[in-house]
Amino acid sequence: MIKKIGVLTSGGDSPGMNACIRAIVRTANYHHIEVIGFKNGYEGLIDNVFVPLKRESVSGIIHKGGTILKTARSKRFMTDEGLKQAQSNILKHQINGLIIIGGDGSFKGAMALNNGLNIPIVGCAGTIDNDLVGTDFTIGYDTAINTVVEAIDKIRDTAESHDRIFVVEVMGRDAGLIALRSAIASGAEALLIPEIKNDLEMLVSKIKNWRSSKSSKIIVVAEGDEAGGAYKIAEVIKRESPDSDIRVSILGHIQRGGNPSCMERVNASIVGYHAVLGLQNGERNKMVGIINNAVVFTPFEKVVKHIDTIDPGLEKMLEVLSS
Ligand code: F6P
Repeated sequence: MIKKIGVLTSGGDSPGMNACIRAIVRTANYHHIEVIGFKNGYEGLIDNVFVPLKRESVSGIIHKGGTILKTARSKRFMTDEGLKQAQSNILKHQINGLIIIGGDGSFKGAMALNNGLNIPIVGCAGTIDNDLVGTDFTIGYDTAINTVVEAIDKIRDTAESHDRIFVVEVMGRDAGLIALRSAIASGAEALLIPEIKNDLEMLVSKIKNWRSSKSSKIIVVAEGDEAGGAYKIAEVIKRESPDSDIRVSILGHIQRGGNPSCMERVNASIVGYHAVLGLQNGERNKMVGIINNAVVFTPFEKVVKHIDTIDPGLEKMLEVLSS
């Protein structure tokens, strides 16, 4: 019988986390389950910083970016001492379920936490990168790609006016999904992502052969690409093709903020709602995700295995459509 649960957000924040917290609290409240929220991710578990979350505590947050619980990438949690402290606080609270909203690092943390504690933990995928096994969409991804596309559309206006090349760097340390989707949607001319071996020489020869009728050229690069980032790429292009007028734009953390999109709010609500139902139905150490419109629980061990999630067909399509 689940009577009391804890919830926390961990790792990089992402738009839609608040909608997920709201769904968790409202579902728990409906089933007469008490909820406490730990602040600042695993830091709050270690320091026992928490707030009771009631029905009203989550009013007026569904449309807001960020996370009302705040978040952190906790270094202390990676130490034995920090982990033990967090485990001992969980026992003190006598909670019989924990919901963690975060990315793969957060779920690795959940596995460590559960080692020796044996408390049911369910995860909700929260990261703009969409790089988790076990779900088609992570919370934050849809909003982030829409932010990127809006930004590139604006960059396109100025690029066209000046006949310029722009190298636009987007987020994604280990994953190029934000870059791929936004490149397709913004009609970008080239893409560099960590999952695909890139050849800068080929990029330069492609640039030299671009039709002169193309007045603007947008190259989207994921921050984790091995080519060394947008400035390095721009430098190589300028060196090999000195006539090109080239600028760099690094979109940075604007990609993590903003009001969540409609799809984000709905998906975040679905996974938050099912996280609570899952705990009640005996799910443990699994992440709740959405695959082909169905709710799916996947064990954390599978979720944290970063696999290549890039569809080569989409990459090829981009090449054809931008030719
Ligand atoms: O994991 C989400 C993410 O936004 C990545 O795309 C990016 O590399 C990283 O977080 C940046 O993290 P921070 O805000 O801690 O620098």
